[in-house]
Amino acid sequence: MANIIIAQPHGFCFGVNRAVDLAQKTAQRYSQPIYFLGEIVHNQHVIDWLKLDLKIKTVKKIEDIPPQSVVIIQAHGVAPQIYQQAKDRQLTIVDATCPLVLKSHQTVKNLAKEDKKIIFICNKIYHDETIGVLGEAPQSITPVTLKDISNFKIKNPDNTVVITQTTLSTLETQSALDHLKEKYPQITIHPHICQATTERQSAIINLVKKYKFVIIVGSPTSANSNSLRQVAEDSGATAYIIDNASQLKKEWLKDQDNIVVSSGASTPESVLDQVINKIKNYE
Ligand code: F3S
Repeated sequence: MANIIIAQPHGFCFGVNRAVDLAQKTAQRYSQPIYFLGEIVHNQHVIDWLKLDLKIKTVKKIEDIPPQSVVIIQAHGVAPQIYQQAKDRQLTIVDATCPLVLKSHQTVKNLAKEDKKIIFICNKIYHDETIGVLGEAPQSITPVTLKDISNFKIKNPDNTVVITQTTLSTLETQSALDHLKEKYPQITIHPHICQATTERQSAIINLVKKYKFVIIVGSPTSANSNSLRQVAEDSGATAYIIDNASQLKKEWLKDQDNIVVSSGASTPESVLDQVINKIKNYE
């Protein structure tokens, strides 16, 4: 029977716990209709559970929320213009933005006031966190993906500050930032990868020194889950990401004596448990 090693820490981070808790308290407190604007966290299991349990609907655009309703802002944050639109529609705002994402918003605002040019390194230009942070200072900030940053030309490095999305791969980011600093020694760099992301990735990096097969349980839309898979691969392991137990493939596990499992920061523990049970049942 294969040895299953569960990475520690794994699963819900502080920001996701906080967002789920806020949604539950909001449902208890308000009698008027409540809406999630976008995905409160990037995990469909959590969204389905909250929608069913708390009777909260999800909309993509603020215009779809009837006036005088309650809107819950997602953990990844939104652009400041959205708060204004919510006020204009007389919505009650419950802000579930992770405080660590808000820290990036504040940094961008401060830097823009100082007339700095800002580069925001992200995994995707259209990720919710990227769109929200960009909205703080659209004239001053340029989003560049981690994949593209090594070829990106910086015109005025003396006056440029580089910040990062909170959930990037630590290994890939470190090598990109080292490269950037070598190319532009004058540049200022403020990495904003959060502690939860760093700790979950460090656990994988340490385990992969010994075990070379990793399963990450997380949504394909979750940046931090994808980064977990990425650090496992970059550390020399074979790694798969699955959203739920039904996506596990028996042939992956053939000949594996040790299987490391972990889960993204928005993956419920129950989904990880189902995956572990399925691995055990295959044996
Ligand atoms: Fe916040 Fe980091 Fe979680 S930014 S939402 S604590 S992954």
